[in-house]
Amino acid sequence: MWFRQLLAPLLGESNPYHTAWVAVVFAAWYCGLWPSILTAVLSVLGIWYWFLAPAHSFALRDPRSEIFGMVGFLLFSGLIIALGESNRRSLTRREWAEGKLREAHDELERKVQERTAELNLANDSLRELSGRLQQLRDDERRQIARELHDSVGQLLAALGMNFDAITMDSPNLDPAAIRTISDSRAMVEQISSEIRTISYLLHPPLLDVAGLASALHWYVDGFSERSKIKVDLQIPETLGRLSDEMEIAIFRMVQECLTNIHRHSGSESATIRLIQDNRRMVVVEVRDAGKGISPEKSLAMRTAGRAGVGFRGMRERLRQLGGTLRIDSNPTGTTVIASLPVQESAVKDVDAQMA
Ligand SMILES: Nc1ncnc2c1ncn2[C@@H]1O[C@H](COP(=O)(O)OP(=O)(O)O)[C@@H](O)[C@H]1O
Ligand SMILES: [Mg+2]
Repeated sequence: MWFRQLLAPLLGESNPYHTAWVAVVFAAWYCGLWPSILTAVLSVLGIWYWFLAPAHSFALRDPRSEIFGMVGFLLFSGLIIALGESNRRSLTRREWAEGKLREAHDELERKVQERTAELNLANDSLRELSGRLQQLRDDERRQIARELHDSVGQLLAALGMNFDAITMDSPNLDPAAIRTISDSRAMVEQISSEIRTISYLLHPPLLDVAGLASALHWYVDGFSERSKIKVDLQIPETLGRLSDEMEIAIFRMVQECLTNIHRHSGSESATIRLIQDNRRMVVVEVRDAGKGISPEKSLAMRTAGRAGVGFRGMRERLRQLGGTLRIDSNPTGTTVIASLPVQESAVKDVDAQMA
């Protein structure tokens, strides 16, 4: 009201409602329903008392038009207040909805994090389990190999000696019996040799005794002979002993790759290269000149993850040792490359052996 009196020389006395509109709009916009109604009512009373002639009294000089003015002001104020109120309510509703949305989003985020943690845990324990299973399988193979070699092998050797004794001690046996005994003797020899091969393939004793290089040479020679695939094995002379796990992992990888070359590649030759870089990394590369892994197979291996138990086992074994596996394949051949960090303990072993 005081501000309106200040503006009187500028706006004139005829329409005193200018500043009251501003006050009502301000109150409707920012202050809420009841403060704006109060502002409108107080404005009317103030204008009535101070501005409408005669000033400083509630008497009216021209009651008809002045009351019209006041009622008009109140009506429009009501409209503005209603608009302001509905606007504020829709704002509040939006804020509420946004708040709910944010809450739902946060909840979802928390659930995703929980699930991810659970999945990671499950993955880790699966990896640990598969590593443990590999190790158990290796141990079991070693045990079966030893049993076959030591018990069945020894029994067969004794059986062979018995046959020899029968032939020597019974010179009067008829020729048919001698032939049967010598056939049986030959069969025992054959079984012995088969059992020795099976036992060595299950777990090459050379791997424990003479190390990776000797075991690989032995395996590759046998493989070449059986499959008629020419294999070029390149191992540096300086390669010392690696840890047991590394030696068996590399041996099994070469074994699986050569089996794959025989079964899938159609190649007549293969190259195996073992490189030791600075005694910190060992790289094993197995290459063939075959037809390569078909696009469908390689897609299945990359996506569904169902195909390729051999490669998956290899990859898992290497992963346990901190290594990686790479497969490069095209229609002119396939190269499988494994890289393994040399473990501290293994280097120490080598140092100990060299000292
Ligand atoms: N050297 C290779 N040349 C051509 N194809 C290969 C070769 N090695 C593997 N493959 C293809 O990759 C697939 C996956 O191999 P692998 O994981 O060893 O499983 P599996 O030998 O049991 O089929 C094979 O089925 C074969 O189609
Ligand atoms: Mg295979």
